[in-house]
Amino acid sequence: MAVGIFDSGLGGLTVLEAARKRLPEVPFVYFGDNLHAPYGVRDSDDIFGLTCSAVSRMWDEGCDLVILACNTASAAALRRMQESWVPRDKRVLGVFVPLIEALTERQWGDNSPPREVAVKNVALFATPATVASRAFQRELAFRAIGVDVEAQACGGVVDAIEEGDLILAEALVRSHVDALKRKMPTPQAAILGCTHYPLMETVFQDALGADVMVFSQANLVAESLADYLQRHPSMRGTGQEEKYLTTGDPRRVSDRATQFLRREVRFTQA
Ligand code: DGL
Repeated sequence: MAVGIFDSGLGGLTVLEAARKRLPEVPFVYFGDNLHAPYGVRDSDDIFGLTCSAVSRMWDEGCDLVILACNTASAAALRRMQESWVPRDKRVLGVFVPLIEALTERQWGDNSPPREVAVKNVALFATPATVASRAFQRELAFRAIGVDVEAQACGGVVDAIEEGDLILAEALVRSHVDALKRKMPTPQAAILGCTHYPLMETVFQDALGADVMVFSQANLVAESLADYLQRHPSMRGTGQEEKYLTTGDPRRVSDRATQFLRREVRFTQA
């Protein structure tokens, strides 16, 4: 009954960790495409091709359901995959919708017309490809009216985290928050629209100030996955084993993952 969790690199581990806690009986297969990270500077054809090949690998591991724990792939490839590529007996889900439902105070799957919500000024921090796709604004517009979104493309942050250079990552986060605040001085809420960014969440919160509500995806996605599996128990695939696959150097990736998660994680070659 394995479920796949995919990211371009290490960021999806933030979602994996929350999902493992929420669903301890489910074996997860994690796939990090570390060789090709970051995705955020690639074009959408490239992101589509890489994401499809990673997801195919997870079908082979007995996962019928794969979560794209990568906003960039969710923004640039998910819709095309669902419309033209995913077989009828498989599912691929993204990470945007649970976040937007939380921001707009909706229950899962509430498809009623867009309405006014409490939060009016939202800062979105994401990769250049996610920002360019405007997928977040599009999904938000289906659910809420009158929300002003200011997006900041956070170049360099994913690379620094993948390299394990957290000092550089912190400096970049602070400078991206400053840049955002020049465009929107008093956001009420901030969205961490990249699954790598929760690894820097305290820095975002500190730079934004304590009165800004910071939304990140891990727990929201885990909760909506639990709800989905309850409604679609047949989407638990045949895989039985927890696995960590990477296209990068397994030793290097394992060391970084162990450092981030503060528990021993062993990746093998995808
Ligand atoms: N964690 C990915 C995301 O959520 C990072 C994308 C990248 O590789 O640039 O967008």
